Amino acid sequence: MSNFVIIKNKINRFKKSLIIDGDKSLSIRWALLASQSLKKCRSSNLLYSEDVMSTLNCLKKLGVKIKISKNFCEIIGLGLNGFRYKDNQILDAGNSGTLGRLILGLLVHSKKKIRLKGDKSLSKRDFLRVINPLKKFGAKFNSNRGKLPIEIQGTNYSKPIKYYENKGSAQCKSAVMFAALNTSGETIIKAKKSRDHSELLFRYLKLPIKVIKRKKYDFIKIKGKNKIPALNYKIPSDISSAAFFIILTALARDSQLKIKNININPSRIGLLHVLKMMGIKISKLNIRDYKGERIADLIVKSSNKIRPINCPTKLNSSAIDEFMLIFLVAAKAEGVSYFKNLSELNQKESPRLKWGSKILNKIGIKNIVTKNSIKIYGNPNLKIDKKIIIKNFLKDHRVFMTSVIAALSFGGEWQIFDKSSINTSFPSFLKKIDQLGANLV
Ligand code: S3P
Repeated sequence: MSNFVIIKNKINRFKKSLIIDGDKSLSIRWALLASQSLKKCRSSNLLYSEDVMSTLNCLKKLGVKIKISKNFCEIIGLGLNGFRYKDNQILDAGNSGTLGRLILGLLVHSKKKIRLKGDKSLSKRDFLRVINPLKKFGAKFNSNRGKLPIEIQGTNYSKPIKYYENKGSAQCKSAVMFAALNTSGETIIKAKKSRDHSELLFRYLKLPIKVIKRKKYDFIKIKGKNKIPALNYKIPSDISSAAFFIILTALARDSQLKIKNININPSRIGLLHVLKMMGIKISKLNIRDYKGERIADLIVKSSNKIRPINCPTKLNSSAIDEFMLIFLVAAKAEGVSYFKNLSELNQKESPRLKWGSKILNKIGIKNIVTKNSIKIYGNPNLKIDKKIIIKNFLKDHRVFMTSVIAALSFGGEWQIFDKSSINTSFPSFLKKIDQLGANLV
């Protein structure tokens, strides 16, 4: 089967309802935390994607018993410090930065040397950001100048640390929180705002965690060595996956979409704030709380008039995975949009600030990109009648899916490679596109 899609037609005038796959951040966190419990933990709607499968495979290699079925996943963990280590063990984090970084937190107490590797994209990403704080717990590292493959040798005598997380990275914050779980004493983190799923799960499990929220930073204090109770969890749908369909609907003509059971955790909904500022209305229905998270059904409608935005940097972290899509909205706005302090975007599965700009260049939208900012000159009357090829993007799932949305929104004839990249985070993406009535080859 070919590993590309061809798109020749825009999609307009649909009125549909969709259910999106489970949240990736929560799926990975659930599995890692369940592995630290001695109780039977069950999840439903776990995201069965490659990143989550890599998580389950790493845990299995460490001796954790896992049962996967269509409707649920069950983990009987080994308790804190219970992993079974073998000589010359190699764990493969695949494409997943979240898995690679968070599992190192749990390996701070490994009794043997463990080697962690990843795919080509993950091997280009920075791991010093977690190696440095995790060293302070007492673990020893060997790495390829802060990149994978990494060797970690844990310690029996970890000591709690004080850590200042200043990138707004939930992965760094969570790696330290996971290491703190099995460390006697109190670990204190000052963290620039980022998604707070780990904090909410720790609190739901009644672990001794205190979070003090300030305007730009959170202070998190965790006391370790507490048993982890059973964690039964119904994973809500992922707003970062829903985002592709939100943007598709917003940019289409006369369309409406209802998306059910979306996790609208306030630390994840930067996209909704940005779209509101740009004049796109999204209603939230049936808002409810679930084990600390907030869930709602969303209704999106097409918008005839899109305003440009000078994007407030305080929204950067809560929209970090959605920026390439937001740039497409800016491409259709009536005026110039500006996004700054976005260097973290180039630290993702591919350099996404660069790729966002490349896609805009391909569709003929003027933009000026620097190492950490982009200025986009919108054109509400954009028409494309040329052939566009998208390839060599390190198989970044979000580059593939963003390109599909651009093709269906702006027209032209597109050939987009590495279709199997969707399996990283959103395996049913193309099926959902089909459900809306798009014509893909
Ligand atoms: C994630 C955090 C973000 C995000 C990634 C998932 C998480 O990365 O981009 O897709 O689950 O913690 P950073 O924490 O590195 O910004």
